[in-house]
Amino acid sequence: DKIQHADITISAVSPSQYPDDGLTEIVLAGRSNVGKSTFINTMVNRKKLARTSGKPGKTRTLNFFNIENELFFVDVPGYGYAKVSNAEQNKWGRMMTDYFATRKELALGILLVDFRHEPTEQDIQMYDLYKYYDIPVLIVATKADKIKKSKYNKHSSIIRKTLEIEPGDKLFTFSSMTREGRKEIWDEILTYVRD
Ligand code: GTP
Ligand code: MG
Repeated sequence: DKIQHADITISAVSPSQYPDDGLTEIVLAGRSNVGKSTFINTMVNRKKLARTSGKPGKTRTLNFFNIENELFFVDVPGYGYAKVSNAEQNKWGRMMTDYFATRKELALGILLVDFRHEPTEQDIQMYDLYKYYDIPVLIVATKADKIKKSKYNKHSSIIRKTLEIEPGDKLFTFSSMTREGRKEIWDEILTYVRD
Protein backbone atom coordinates (compact mmCIF):
# COMPACT_ATOMS: atom_id res chain seq x y z
CA ASP A 1 0.00 0.00 0.00
CA LYS A 2 2.92 2.38 0.57
CA ILE A 3 3.97 4.18 -2.59
CA GLN A 4 7.75 4.66 -2.68
CA HIS A 5 8.21 6.35 -6.00
CA ALA A 6 6.02 8.96 -7.66
CA ASP A 7 7.27 11.81 -9.80
CA ILE A 8 6.29 13.90 -12.75
CA THR A 9 8.03 12.67 -15.86
CA ILE A 10 6.87 15.28 -18.33
CA SER A 11 4.30 17.94 -19.10
CA ALA A 12 3.46 17.35 -22.73
CA VAL A 13 1.50 19.38 -25.25
CA SER A 14 2.17 17.19 -28.29
CA PRO A 15 2.68 13.47 -29.02
CA SER A 16 6.42 13.84 -29.66
CA GLN A 17 6.78 14.70 -25.97
CA TYR A 18 4.95 11.68 -24.54
CA PRO A 19 7.20 9.42 -22.49
CA ASP A 20 8.60 6.34 -24.20
CA ASP A 21 8.84 4.10 -21.13
CA GLY A 22 6.06 1.86 -22.42
CA LEU A 23 4.29 1.83 -19.04
CA THR A 24 0.54 1.44 -18.82
CA GLU A 25 -1.27 4.79 -18.72
CA ILE A 26 -4.40 5.75 -16.84
CA VAL A 27 -5.90 9.08 -17.90
CA LEU A 28 -8.03 11.33 -15.71
CA ALA A 29 -10.60 13.55 -17.34
CA GLY A 30 -13.29 15.75 -15.88
CA ARG A 31 -14.54 19.26 -15.39
CA SER A 32 -12.21 21.93 -14.14
CA ASN A 33 -12.14 21.90 -10.37
CA VAL A 34 -13.73 18.44 -10.06
CA GLY A 35 -10.61 17.20 -8.26
CA LYS A 36 -8.45 15.39 -10.85
CA SER A 37 -5.10 16.59 -9.51
CA THR A 38 -6.24 16.09 -5.92
CA PHE A 39 -7.31 12.55 -6.84
CA ILE A 40 -3.78 11.73 -8.00
CA ASN A 41 -2.28 13.14 -4.81
CA THR A 42 -4.65 11.14 -2.63
CA MET A 43 -4.08 7.94 -4.57
CA VAL A 44 -0.31 8.21 -4.14
CA ASN A 45 -0.31 9.76 -0.65
CA ARG A 46 1.42 12.98 -1.68
CA LYS A 47 0.17 16.40 -0.80
CA LYS A 48 1.66 18.33 -3.68
CA LEU A 49 2.70 15.97 -6.46
CA ALA A 50 0.04 17.28 -8.85
CA ARG A 51 -0.65 20.96 -8.43
CA THR A 52 -4.15 21.77 -7.28
CA SER A 53 -6.10 24.96 -6.88
CA GLY A 54 -9.37 26.32 -5.62
CA LYS A 55 -9.59 28.16 -8.94
CA PRO A 56 -10.49 26.20 -12.07
CA GLY A 57 -8.07 25.92 -14.96
CA LYS A 58 -4.94 25.03 -12.99
CA THR A 59 -3.72 22.14 -15.16
CA ARG A 60 -2.87 23.21 -18.74
CA THR A 61 -0.89 20.34 -20.24
CA LEU A 62 -0.88 16.53 -20.25
CA ASN A 63 1.07 15.71 -17.10
CA PHE A 64 2.52 12.22 -16.89
CA PHE A 65 3.12 10.99 -13.35
CA ASN A 66 5.27 7.91 -13.02
CA ILE A 67 4.01 5.73 -10.18
CA GLU A 68 6.42 3.05 -8.95
CA ASN A 69 7.72 2.59 -12.50
CA GLU A 70 4.50 0.59 -12.97
CA LEU A 71 2.12 3.04 -14.53
CA PHE A 72 1.52 6.64 -15.46
CA PHE A 73 -1.37 8.71 -14.20
CA VAL A 74 -2.02 11.26 -16.92
CA ASP A 75 -3.52 14.46 -15.54
CA VAL A 76 -5.17 16.61 -18.18
CA PRO A 77 -6.72 20.08 -18.22
CA GLY A 78 -10.32 20.19 -17.14
CA TYR A 79 -13.17 21.26 -19.40
CA GLY A 80 -16.17 23.45 -18.83
CA TYR A 81 -14.33 26.47 -17.51
CA ALA A 82 -16.32 29.47 -18.71
CA LYS A 83 -13.39 31.85 -19.02
CA VAL A 84 -11.62 29.72 -21.59
CA SER A 85 -11.64 31.11 -25.15
CA ASN A 86 -12.74 29.13 -28.20
CA ALA A 87 -9.14 28.93 -29.35
CA GLU A 88 -8.16 27.42 -26.01
CA GLN A 89 -11.03 24.93 -26.22
CA ASN A 90 -9.93 23.83 -29.67
CA LYS A 91 -6.41 23.40 -28.38
CA TRP A 92 -7.79 21.24 -25.58
CA GLY A 93 -9.79 19.15 -28.02
CA ARG A 94 -6.78 18.56 -30.24
CA MET A 95 -4.52 17.71 -27.32
CA MET A 96 -7.01 15.14 -26.03
CA THR A 97 -7.93 13.52 -29.33
CA ASP A 98 -4.25 13.35 -30.38
CA TYR A 99 -3.63 11.43 -27.21
CA PHE A 100 -6.71 9.18 -27.28
CA ALA A 101 -6.44 8.33 -30.95
CA THR A 102 -2.83 7.21 -30.97
CA ARG A 103 -1.84 6.06 -27.53
CA LYS A 104 -1.39 2.30 -27.28
CA GLU A 105 -0.23 2.52 -23.67
CA LEU A 106 -3.56 3.99 -22.63
CA ALA A 107 -5.39 1.22 -20.76
CA LEU A 108 -8.07 3.00 -18.78
CA GLY A 109 -9.94 6.28 -18.82
CA ILE A 110 -11.20 7.59 -15.53
CA LEU A 111 -14.04 10.08 -15.74
CA LEU A 112 -14.31 12.20 -12.63
CA VAL A 113 -17.66 13.78 -11.91
CA ASP A 114 -18.79 15.80 -8.93
CA PHE A 115 -20.91 13.53 -6.73
CA ARG A 116 -23.07 16.48 -5.68
CA HIS A 117 -24.29 17.47 -9.13
CA GLU A 118 -25.98 16.05 -12.17
CA PRO A 119 -23.32 15.44 -14.85
CA THR A 120 -23.09 18.24 -17.41
CA GLU A 121 -23.44 18.04 -21.17
CA GLN A 122 -19.64 18.06 -21.37
CA ASP A 123 -19.38 15.16 -18.91
CA ILE A 124 -21.68 13.20 -21.22
CA GLN A 125 -19.51 14.13 -24.21
CA MET A 126 -16.40 13.04 -22.34
CA TYR A 127 -17.94 9.68 -21.51
CA ASP A 128 -18.94 9.29 -25.15
CA LEU A 129 -15.43 10.26 -26.28
CA TYR A 130 -13.94 7.42 -24.23
CA LYS A 131 -16.47 5.07 -25.78
CA TYR A 132 -15.73 6.34 -29.27
CA TYR A 133 -12.03 5.51 -28.83
CA ASP A 134 -12.84 2.16 -27.20
CA ILE A 135 -11.15 3.12 -23.96
CA PRO A 136 -12.36 1.19 -20.90
CA VAL A 137 -14.03 3.63 -18.50
CA LEU A 138 -14.22 3.96 -14.76
CA ILE A 139 -16.44 6.66 -13.24
CA VAL A 140 -15.21 8.32 -10.04
CA ALA A 141 -17.64 10.56 -8.19
CA THR A 142 -15.56 13.06 -6.23
CA LYS A 143 -16.23 15.18 -3.13
CA ALA A 144 -18.37 12.41 -1.62
CA ASP A 145 -17.61 13.91 1.80
CA LYS A 146 -20.15 16.61 0.91
CA ILE A 147 -23.03 14.15 0.57
CA LYS A 148 -24.92 12.35 3.34
CA LYS A 149 -24.80 8.57 3.15
CA SER A 150 -28.59 8.50 3.03
CA LYS A 151 -28.42 10.36 -0.31
CA TYR A 152 -25.77 8.16 -1.94
CA ASN A 153 -28.20 5.98 -3.87
CA LYS A 154 -30.08 8.95 -5.22
CA HIS A 155 -26.93 10.73 -6.40
CA SER A 156 -25.40 7.56 -7.86
CA SER A 157 -28.50 6.82 -9.87
CA ILE A 158 -28.68 10.37 -11.23
CA ILE A 159 -25.09 10.02 -12.44
CA ARG A 160 -25.72 6.60 -13.98
CA LYS A 161 -28.86 7.78 -15.74
CA THR A 162 -27.51 11.08 -17.00
CA LEU A 163 -24.31 9.62 -18.41
CA GLU A 164 -26.21 6.54 -19.60
CA ILE A 165 -23.45 4.44 -18.09
CA GLU A 166 -23.20 1.05 -19.75
CA PRO A 167 -24.01 -1.87 -17.44
CA GLY A 168 -20.39 -3.12 -17.22
CA ASP A 169 -18.90 0.26 -16.29
CA LYS A 170 -18.17 0.81 -12.63
CA LEU A 171 -18.93 3.86 -10.53
CA PHE A 172 -16.97 4.57 -7.35
CA THR A 173 -17.55 7.30 -4.80
CA PHE A 174 -14.38 9.03 -3.68
CA SER A 175 -13.23 11.67 -1.24
CA SER A 176 -9.79 13.17 -0.81
CA MET A 177 -10.86 14.28 2.67
CA THR A 178 -11.92 10.90 4.06
CA ARG A 179 -10.02 8.80 1.48
CA GLU A 180 -13.22 6.88 0.85
CA GLY A 181 -12.94 4.78 -2.29
CA ARG A 182 -9.15 4.90 -2.51
CA LYS A 183 -8.55 1.22 -1.90
CA GLU A 184 -11.41 -0.01 -4.09
CA ILE A 185 -10.27 2.23 -6.95
CA TRP A 186 -6.65 1.03 -6.64
CA ASP A 187 -7.84 -2.58 -6.78
CA GLU A 188 -9.79 -1.79 -9.93
CA ILE A 189 -6.95 0.19 -11.56
CA LEU A 190 -4.46 -2.60 -10.95
CA THR A 191 -6.57 -5.01 -12.95
CA TYR A 192 -5.61 -2.89 -16.00
CA VAL A 193 -1.88 -2.83 -15.28
CA ARG A 194 -0.10 -5.67 -16.97
CA ASP A 195 2.88 -7.21 -15.26
P1 GTP B 1 -8.21 21.73 -13.05
O1 GTP B 1 -6.74 21.44 -12.99
O2 GTP B 1 -8.53 23.19 -13.02
O3 GTP B 1 -8.90 21.05 -14.18
O4 GTP B 1 -8.91 21.18 -11.67
P2 GTP B 1 -8.79 19.75 -10.97
O5 GTP B 1 -9.87 18.87 -11.47
O6 GTP B 1 -7.40 19.22 -11.08
O7 GTP B 1 -9.15 20.10 -9.45
P3 GTP B 1 -8.17 20.18 -8.18
O8 GTP B 1 -7.63 18.82 -7.85
O9 GTP B 1 -7.21 21.29 -8.37
O10 GTP B 1 -9.24 20.49 -7.01
C1 GTP B 1 -10.11 21.61 -7.08
C2 GTP B 1 -10.62 21.95 -5.69
O11 GTP B 1 -11.48 20.91 -5.18
C3 GTP B 1 -9.52 22.11 -4.64
O12 GTP B 1 -9.87 23.20 -3.82
C4 GTP B 1 -9.57 20.81 -3.86
O13 GTP B 1 -9.13 20.94 -2.53
C5 GTP B 1 -11.06 20.47 -3.90
N1 GTP B 1 -11.30 19.00 -3.78
C6 GTP B 1 -10.79 18.05 -4.58
N2 GTP B 1 -11.21 16.81 -4.21
C7 GTP B 1 -12.03 16.99 -3.13
C8 GTP B 1 -12.78 16.10 -2.28
O14 GTP B 1 -12.79 14.86 -2.43
N3 GTP B 1 -13.52 16.67 -1.28
C9 GTP B 1 -13.55 18.01 -1.07
N4 GTP B 1 -14.31 18.47 -0.08
N5 GTP B 1 -12.84 18.89 -1.85
C10 GTP B 1 -12.09 18.39 -2.85
MG1 MG C 1 -5.75 19.88 -12.14
